[in-house]
Amino acid sequence: MSILGIETSCDETSAAIVEAGFKMRSNVIKSQLDHAAYGGIVPELASRAHIKAIVPVVRQALEEAGKEWHEISGIAVTKGPGLVGSLIVGISFAKALALSMGKPLIGINHMEGHIFSTLIENELTPPFLTLLVSGGHTELVLVEALGVYKMLGRTRDDAAGEAFDKVAKILDILPNQGSVMGGKRIAEEAESGNPRAISFPRAMIKDDNFDFSFSGLKTAVLNYVKPLELRTLKQQIPDIAASFQAAITDVLVLKTIKALKYTGLRTLTIAGGVAANNELRTGLAHAVTALGGQLYCPSPLLCTDNAAMIAAVGLHQLKSGPINGYDLDADPRLSL
Ligand code: KG4
Ligand code: ZN
Repeated sequence: MSILGIETSCDETSAAIVEAGFKMRSNVIKSQLDHAAYGGIVPELASRAHIKAIVPVVRQALEEAGKEWHEISGIAVTKGPGLVGSLIVGISFAKALALSMGKPLIGINHMEGHIFSTLIENELTPPFLTLLVSGGHTELVLVEALGVYKMLGRTRDDAAGEAFDKVAKILDILPNQGSVMGGKRIAEEAESGNPRAISFPRAMIKDDNFDFSFSGLKTAVLNYVKPLELRTLKQQIPDIAASFQAAITDVLVLKTIKALKYTGLRTLTIAGGVAANNELRTGLAHAVTALGGQLYCPSPLLCTDNAAMIAAVGLHQLKSGPINGYDLDADPRLSL
């Protein structure tokens, strides 16, 4: 069985082929760089860039996998959550392909895709706990079985990735040309900084729940930066980045370990763009190992948005679940 996955929920146009056993045959990702000048993703630009890229990206995914159309068993496409205009490009294209090639169409929840990203490189069977940390979500999910999820906690305001992106903007370290993903830039600056230089708040760590809050942390960085002169700010960027990263990592690690203890589970996976962060990966690995458990992290390319994870869910659903009709709709606010 070979599934073509298509992902266009935000600012990456991606297509991939995944085969039985979650074997990834190709995973083509085209990131949009046109947003950099605006300091954030512009929805209309994103839709236009998807429409330009979708045909070459899908063609390349088939070519790299060495597949012909008749060898494809189904087409899986992200139906939400995400930017509605971007989702519609992927869904319309997938529908047209499914109709013309006579293939089943499977609409996929993007967040479920992130959960499946770990299964592409690791043989894992539920139950396990997943820390989902992306630009729009921060969730602790108990994976009881593939397709059966229980939300243990989530952010009450900003997502972890959103906090990284906003702080990168406050520090003015986003490149003029290139991705608007601030997380990677913060991590780069933090490498030469002191994580104990500034004591930023760790919200809700003593609370008796698994929820998060990151908007206070972002405001604390803003308040710290405001009175600084430009020259002092420039000198302090590595320390601010490292101290901010340490604060966010501490909270994510503490709450995740609390959830592992609560559920009695010892297998943890992380997923989503922020899961590419080395400090978070190392911090979680140490804490989980100390608990006698094991951490599974996707390689960085599978942490950020990609179509291989969408094809992986499609593969599972084609075997077990319902197939969508041609009335499949985009759902920008879809939850797990
Ligand atoms: O999963 P993703 O590609 O898109 C969403 O579904 O949101 O996640 C994007 C987020 C962005 O906020 C970006 O800043 C963050 O992931 N990110 C990182 C790193 N790489 C990407 N955050 C921290 N450290 C990184 N190395
Ligand atoms: Zn994502």
